[in-house]
Amino acid sequence: MSITINGQRVEAPGDPRVSLLDLLRDRLGLPGTKKGCNQGACGACTVLVDGERIISCLALAVQFEGREITTIEGLAGADGLHPLQRAFVEHDGFQCGYCTPGQIVSAVAMAGEAARGLPSAVTSDIAAAAIPLTREEIAERMSGNLCRCGAYNGIVEAVAETFAAQKREEVAA
Ligand code: FES
Ligand code: FES
Repeated sequence: MSITINGQRVEAPGDPRVSLLDLLRDRLGLPGTKKGCNQGACGACTVLVDGERIISCLALAVQFEGREITTIEGLAGADGLHPLQRAFVEHDGFQCGYCTPGQIVSAVAMAGEAARGLPSAVTSDIAAAAIPLTREEIAERMSGNLCRCGAYNGIVEAVAETFAAQKREEVAA
């Protein structure tokens, strides 16, 4: 039984009680995904499963047999950091950095959700094919990712700039 993590196949743990978060951090040496609350309240442990964001502290690793997991370690490409990682640096989107991997991974999936027209609680046109990422939308959609340092202004700036830039590239293509 195997799980694909950042493109590498790994054996699922024999113990079905091991959380996905503990598999990543304690058994696979991938400490980028953080353990904040360990009870589903802070978002520090966010990872992607087949491109969708989940909180890994409340997920059992054995659930993900045959699935593709992406962690913060897997976001950077051959040409370096993911654009959102660079934007976090440019916009001071962190202070201590503990929440940052979860913020970045969550925002990548969040942008995809908006682009596919999945509405949030603040979306005015829920029938829109794609929903613009206004600051209000970003704040609402990222509300599951807490930052105890209060770096929210920089986080929103980084997310807004990155996905607005991607939109411009898509239009130009
Ligand atoms: S550590 Fe998983 S939500 Fe806080
Ligand atoms: S940067 Fe410290 S918790 Fe967010």
